[in-house]
Amino acid sequence: MGILQDPEAFQAVLRAVSRYKTTYVVLYSDDLGVSIESVEDPILLSLRVGVPAGTPAADLAQKYRLLRRVDFPSTPTALRQIVTDVLARKIDAALLWAPLAGLLAMELDPSHRLSMMPLAAPTPPPASFASSDSSAVSETVARCRDEVQGTLEAYGVVPAEVLAPPNPVEELPASPEPPPENIEEARQGWDVYQTHCERCHGPDAISGGLAPDLRDRVRRLTYAEFFQIVLQGRVEKGMPAWRGLLKPDDVRLVYQYIRARSTERLGPGRPS
Ligand code: HEC
Repeated sequence: MGILQDPEAFQAVLRAVSRYKTTYVVLYSDDLGVSIESVEDPILLSLRVGVPAGTPAADLAQKYRLLRRVDFPSTPTALRQIVTDVLARKIDAALLWAPLAGLLAMELDPSHRLSMMPLAAPTPPPASFASSDSSAVSETVARCRDEVQGTLEAYGVVPAEVLAPPNPVEELPASPEPPPENIEEARQGWDVYQTHCERCHGPDAISGGLAPDLRDRVRRLTYAEFFQIVLQGRVEKGMPAWRGLLKPDDVRLVYQYIRARSTERLGPGRPS
């Protein structure tokens, strides 16, 4: 697609990847034969980690005492080189701003040999991408942005904003009582469910095997518990925290949908 050859398009696309604005990842090759679970993982200390000099990634490398770091200039060509070098095992890993990692992986890693471990502490984007100019983006930029976001999701990168420690005050539903049944809200909840929950909890809220069958859970959990689990997640068990992505209204809608599935007031498939 040649985005790397066109500095303006490159900047525009990266600036548009707003979901991952404050996320950084450690990117490494599966050939390394290890799985890095967190930035505190001692294995990281022994790795040669490429970082773009003069960016927050370099500060993070310092903060986490990655002593064997290898500095690269932060020009598009050098950034591309970092990922090429990880794939060629010239270096073991790289610490990169997530939108950048997503774009580069999209271009350079078609056979998905790389893994990405997201850092949970939100960190500002590199200075050249800091301006939050969210003015209308062209169709090409929007398409490319969506591809970058899709790539990051495919690598299992959860935005740092979402991994950040929850603020309990925001977690409570407006009322601790479950909302009265409302089939229209349940239909709207299908959208939320299908977009965010289905890939793990299965189509039609019937467990796909990766995660529990939620129809039974809505009967057993209180409404406040449901709310809290959804917003706070159980990140260590593979249930993402949806805080920052879902608003309390969305959580209510998805609850309505799952409950309507559990009482069979809604059948399987897209509600008519
Ligand atoms: C990436 C996979 C994934 C996605 C996406 C996901 N979940 Fe989960 N969820 C899990 C896993 C795994 C568990 C079981 C966690 C555990 O063992 O405690 C879980 C547990 C839960 C529970 C608690 C069930 C219990 O046993 O108490 C609720 C409620 C829940 N998820 C709701 C949701 C909702 C609503 C969405 C969509 C907004 C969602 N999940 C999206 C993986 C996922």
